[in-house]
Amino acid sequence: MPGRAVIKQSRRRFLRHVLASPLAAHSFAFNPDEERRIASPKEAINIFDFIPVARGKMLPAHWAYLETGVDDDLTVKANIEGFRRYQIRPYPFADVSRIDTSLELFGRKLRSPILLAPVGNLRAFHEEADLACARAAAARGHQFIVSVYSSYHPHEIAQAYDGPLWFQLYPTDNWDATVALIRRAEAAGADVLLVTVDTPGGSNRETLRRTGNQRSPECRPCHEPGLHAFLKRHPIYRDIDVAKVTSGVRPYTWDFLDRVRETTRMRFVIKGVMTAEAARECVAHGADGIIVSNHGGRELESLLGAVDALEEVVAAVGGKIPVLMDGGIRRGTDVFKALALGARAVGIGRPYLWGLGAFGQEGVERILELMQAELAGVMKLAGTPTLAAITPQFVRRRT
Ligand code: FNR
Ligand code: LAC
Repeated sequence: MPGRAVIKQSRRRFLRHVLASPLAAHSFAFNPDEERRIASPKEAINIFDFIPVARGKMLPAHWAYLETGVDDDLTVKANIEGFRRYQIRPYPFADVSRIDTSLELFGRKLRSPILLAPVGNLRAFHEEADLACARAAAARGHQFIVSVYSSYHPHEIAQAYDGPLWFQLYPTDNWDATVALIRRAEAAGADVLLVTVDTPGGSNRETLRRTGNQRSPECRPCHEPGLHAFLKRHPIYRDIDVAKVTSGVRPYTWDFLDRVRETTRMRFVIKGVMTAEAARECVAHGADGIIVSNHGGRELESLLGAVDALEEVVAAVGGKIPVLMDGGIRRGTDVFKALALGARAVGIGRPYLWGLGAFGQEGVERILELMQAELAGVMKLAGTPTLAAITPQFVRRRT
């Protein structure tokens, strides 16, 4: 019979195992294993190892901003659980001695189909914010997408990066200010413009609201109240006249989106499409690409998981323009499944924020290294030496 101490110890070890498992630690606010803390990015076995370190270094309200969903986090959960319902059907007879993860997208060659999704307010997670992420993305050969709410000016981020950026826009309700944002992205060399259309305002981010209190004395210096103060906190707005801006977003009607598209030579991509109907309209209005996304579950509750919406969007688009997706990608197998279902590339959000919060640039690099290695490993085991080889017959949805 083992002694009580041993039982206690193994129970603790079991609990730690359960807590550290991706199921528990996939993305949820407050349950990562606090006992195992990696001391350096190299020690990480998977991306979840970064969670306790990142959380430990951040203000609780900033951690809540990172992790928050809306209402009961059903959409966040759907993003994660969606992937678990798909299983892989491997092909054993392929020559997998060389694995190639490169692709052509919007006229350029990319080394990896794993992109860094646009995330605003990155300075909440690390002082070097977008610069650290852009440098990490450059070092490891991934596309970086700058949010309009970046913590550095796009031209500074462009200097930290090694190729054309993609730029994500929230159009304001003032046309001149909106055009000024687009011109700054162009001047920074961005060649793809994403307009995120799933955020008309009013999302109920309860995890954030429970924890965040911007009126407390320690928060006040960075969180002066009011829309104009909020906009001016973001360097791209530094020399933009915001006097006539009364809302940081505006309705995403087609007359407006057509006008945006005609205003720029950047490729025009719509982010935040979740249905076949909306996807067909994007194609009809000349979009160059679509990102199937529910904003990481941060906007509307009770949506399909992004991966579950992918199939109908891909079918509706019929190969006319590239379809990308983001939301819930945590493993190489998730990337593989999304590609098999027709996504040309995928975005990750929270995972690279865990790396950033934990160790800055080095942390983001390690996250990218781990996810890229997992993807290459899955491609090898599944018998798909190139991305083009990853076709729908490689996955099946569990019934
Ligand atoms: C986001 N996302 C986002 N999207 C966007 O278009 N503009 C933005 O400024 C932001 N900001 C932002 C902040 C934070 C903290 C998070 C977590 C997310 C959404 C992002 O681009 C992407 O759609 C999701 O993060 C993908 O889901 P996962 O990978 O986080 O599950
Ligand atoms: C968010 C906004 C910035 O998700 O898109 O927090």
